[in-house]
Amino acid sequence: MLSGKDIISIRDLTKDEIFEIFSVAKEMIPVAKGKGIDILKGRILATLFFEPSTRTKFSFESAMYKLGGNVITFFDPKYSSVSKGETLADTIRMVDSYADVIVIRHSYEGAARLASKFADHPVINAGDGAGQHPTQTLLDLFTIWSNLGKFEGLNIGLLGDLKYGRTVHSLALALSDLGSNIYLISPKGLEMPEHIMREISLKTKPRVHNNLMDVIQELDVIYTTRIQKERFPDINEYMKIAGSYRIDLDILEHGKKDLIIMHPLPRVDEIAPEVDYTPHAKYFEQAFNGLPIRMAILSMVLGER
Ligand code: NCD
Repeated sequence: MLSGKDIISIRDLTKDEIFEIFSVAKEMIPVAKGKGIDILKGRILATLFFEPSTRTKFSFESAMYKLGGNVITFFDPKYSSVSKGETLADTIRMVDSYADVIVIRHSYEGAARLASKFADHPVINAGDGAGQHPTQTLLDLFTIWSNLGKFEGLNIGLLGDLKYGRTVHSLALALSDLGSNIYLISPKGLEMPEHIMREISLKTKPRVHNNLMDVIQELDVIYTTRIQKERFPDINEYMKIAGSYRIDLDILEHGKKDLIIMHPLPRVDEIAPEVDYTPHAKYFEQAFNGLPIRMAILSMVLGER
């Protein structure tokens, strides 16, 4: 049902489509871990990353290869014609004629939506500035679902830079639709933007806090994020907030026994490394889930599922 569709915002997907992606992703796990299959043989994915990426770019590319397809990419936007002054619209028109599906990450909010207007093939948003990151949300939801088996009634804390973090923007929208209770925990000045607050408040009553310790004992999931240093207009403002929260073993003592800790990664100092060795840590499993989820998405938008 996703055949030919763009995925620009998590709002573009219905609940049924989200669960359909999960069931395909589940089937993809052994393929991801094994030798791969060739359902996308002869199909080409173009990855256009105008901002840094490790997990998102590699997992999309690995997903395409695991399904028998190929990838075209540039290693650095400096080596594309954008550095000669080509517009995004022209770049997309060209790439669209060479590829069957386009994945784009850009620092401007709305860039992926714009790209989708100039492409006939499906365009997938891999992060647009402080906007949205819908495929990250799918793998985040998949991780919650595979660990806890449901969304309804779960107490989920989104911790950190809720202002500039695109992963939490998409995730909050999805969770409010799926019946979870949302706790928004951020340092002062990095609260969730008004427009997202308005939208999620139509479905749920988010609780807003500045201190994790006020609510940790209630939470089933803590989804912590990096402070998005690159989006601060003034580095001094970043310096004031940097390092203001960190999950470590002492803090976890106050949480539920089966609390799970997630993070889209990369982390800077939000999670102490010793947490990695506890059963609470799910962020590496979460990063792995990017592979089967993106295999599901590519096969579905390309009409092979
Ligand atoms: C996130 C992003 O790019 O928004 N990373 C990712 O895709 N896993 C989070 C971040 O950069 O902090």
